[in-house]
Amino acid sequence: MDMFRLDGQTALVTGAGSGIGQAIAIGLAEAGADVGCFSRATSAGLAETIERIEALGRRAIRLTGSVTDEQDLTAAVETLEAEAGPLTVAVNSAGIASAYPAEDMPIEAWQQVVDTNYTGLFKSCRVEARAMFGNGGGSIVNISSMSGWIANRGLTQAHYNSSKAAVSHLTRSLATEWCDRGVRVNAISPGYTLSPMNKRPEVATQRQQFADETPMQRLAEVEEMIGPAVFFASRASSFCTGSDLVVDGGFVCW
Ligand SMILES: NC(=O)c1ccc[n+]([C@@H]2O[C@H](COP(=O)([O-])OP(=O)(O)OC[C@H]3O[C@@H](n4cnc5c(N)ncnc54)[C@H](O)[C@@H]3O)[C@@H](O)[C@H]2O)c1
Repeated sequence: MDMFRLDGQTALVTGAGSGIGQAIAIGLAEAGADVGCFSRATSAGLAETIERIEALGRRAIRLTGSVTDEQDLTAAVETLEAEAGPLTVAVNSAGIASAYPAEDMPIEAWQQVVDTNYTGLFKSCRVEARAMFGNGGGSIVNISSMSGWIANRGLTQAHYNSSKAAVSHLTRSLATEWCDRGVRVNAISPGYTLSPMNKRPEVATQRQQFADETPMQRLAEVEEMIGPAVFFASRASSFCTGSDLVVDGGFVCW
């Protein structure tokens, strides 16, 4: 199964200090990649991500900043390439959520989610692609959400849901623009996943309901996003671009 290996590749993961991004950063290292771990400087889990990657014998480069700032992203890719080599894989997992009834949602809360999940991911993609164009191509994987496919029953998060629908369609748009330069762009749309995001006070009491509403009757473990990410990152998915893989225990089937 060499087609899934990432030996000799340099990857960037945004949101690598926590949850799905942390699991995927470690998973890419298990598949053989050296990994640039990008998150906010305040991200407490970044040190753990780096420690666990180094324990696998791979290189982990600590990169801090905000995905809302294109200069932070550009500097991160420059540092990563100087220390680990040409960028060929990127996973964009940085994201935030909050909950407000739409009619009362402070516009600042709307803007923060859109700036991070949508515009921040767009900035990440294009900084990564600019590097990959000069490196003979690469693979970008965007972490979208099943909330871009359905509106979650009982959750008041119109900003989040629509930001994720935008991420999924942005993925298709970028895939068509960049495939002539060897850059593939795909998305993963997780269902309810047991990450810190689902330990937010707003959703803690709803966790059992999330499981009940899922055909597989449980939430995903963050590690269950590794296989899909390695698939899209590697040449195992060499004819996939613009794909959006729902990984949700069957949620969107009901
Ligand atoms: N947990 C779920 O149920 C679920 C379901 C579907 C999709 N997702 C998506 O998966 C991704 C990861 O979510 P998670 O559940 O692991 O959440 P998480 O909160 O554990 O991780 C998000 C990470 O992104 C980082 N981040 C946030 N804003 C940032 C910014 N401006 N710049 C840099 N880093 C920033 C945080 O510091 C954190 O490390 C998100 O895009 C989320 O929308 C999560």
